[in-house]
Amino acid sequence: MTKATYVTKPSLAPLHEYTKILEGVWESGILTHNGPLVQQLEKDLQAKLGLQHLVAVTNGTVALQLAIKALELKGEIITSPFTWVATVSAIKWEGCSPVFCDIDPETLNIDPDKIEALITDKTVAIMPVHVFGVPCDVDKIEAIAKKHGLKVIYDAAHAIGSKVEEKSVLDYGDISATSFHATKLFNTGEGGGCITTDSGLFEKLRRIRFFGHDAQGQIVEDGCNGKLTEIHAALGLANLKYYDEVFSARKEGYALYKELLGNLPGVSFQRCKVGVHNSSYFTVIFENEPTLLDVVQKLNDQNLYPRRYFYPSVNTFSKIVDYQPAPISEDISPRILALPLFWELGDEKIRRVVEIIAETLKK
Ligand SMILES: Cc1ncc(COP(=O)(O)O)c(C=O)c1O
Repeated sequence: MTKATYVTKPSLAPLHEYTKILEGVWESGILTHNGPLVQQLEKDLQAKLGLQHLVAVTNGTVALQLAIKALELKGEIITSPFTWVATVSAIKWEGCSPVFCDIDPETLNIDPDKIEALITDKTVAIMPVHVFGVPCDVDKIEAIAKKHGLKVIYDAAHAIGSKVEEKSVLDYGDISATSFHATKLFNTGEGGGCITTDSGLFEKLRRIRFFGHDAQGQIVEDGCNGKLTEIHAALGLANLKYYDEVFSARKEGYALYKELLGNLPGVSFQRCKVGVHNSSYFTVIFENEPTLLDVVQKLNDQNLYPRRYFYPSVNTFSKIVDYQPAPISEDISPRILALPLFWELGDEKIRRVVEIIAETLKK
């Protein structure tokens, strides 16, 4: 049997390039506390993505929590049910309550036309998710937020490389929180970042990432430990050199899937209506769950492992939230499948995956 192919595989720079950077860490003995490599990574990412301010942190979940904390939010936060559980757990860990706004059935992002009906006198913010890197309708969301005096935090965990009007989508909202998790287009193993264009918020994020220390080392506010280590930053610096290659490989893989699956009856796809997405995930929506399960089984039989993502819809997680209906998210979630897509996947595997899907759908 051939080696298993999973939905994703971390992109890694050649090992010797990573160890070369690590030699400097061993020499300096600096492992953390906003060390030189973290600072370099922040600078390089800002330059690469055209961002004003990026604060590197431990992971994407902590980035969301720090964003809520920095904006001093207490109350209801309107968010998407079609997301990874971290979006909602971050809201809850910061003492806020998630309110679910259903999604647009084509973009799979929060439906901006449904936000206003959910606003109450307790609403403090909107936290939309750029699902699979497809940008949200940032203009509409900003207009609603302005009208009602709400903050906007984007869960941009998937969205490095996505753009709206030639600008990184991470530059929208009061703060965007992204992830550098192993599976993401750019990774540091574990890691994440808060992005803002507001220099006051930038300084605050830097302080609360580091126990609430100011530049003079005084504790001036209630912080936590959200620091990225030098070891992770070193991996990020090594990987960043390959960002363009990784980005184009995913784009080519995405385009090939779309070309081969695009006209197949019985499947539909997420649409990008605003800006340009980063092609970081390729998902297929089947007509019903039994078909999806059949496809998964046939792929697994050939040692191919796609992932049900996002499944189930987070508003149905009875252990963490009280149920609030979101019929579109609940309808799509059991029918959507993320297919293998990563740097070194190659066309042959993509063709094989498509062949199996096409054969299964014919039956
Ligand atoms: C939409 C979304 N938000 C938040 C996160 C959390 O990011 P991290 O794994 O870096 O904590 C993820 C993780 O995959 C995610 O998919």
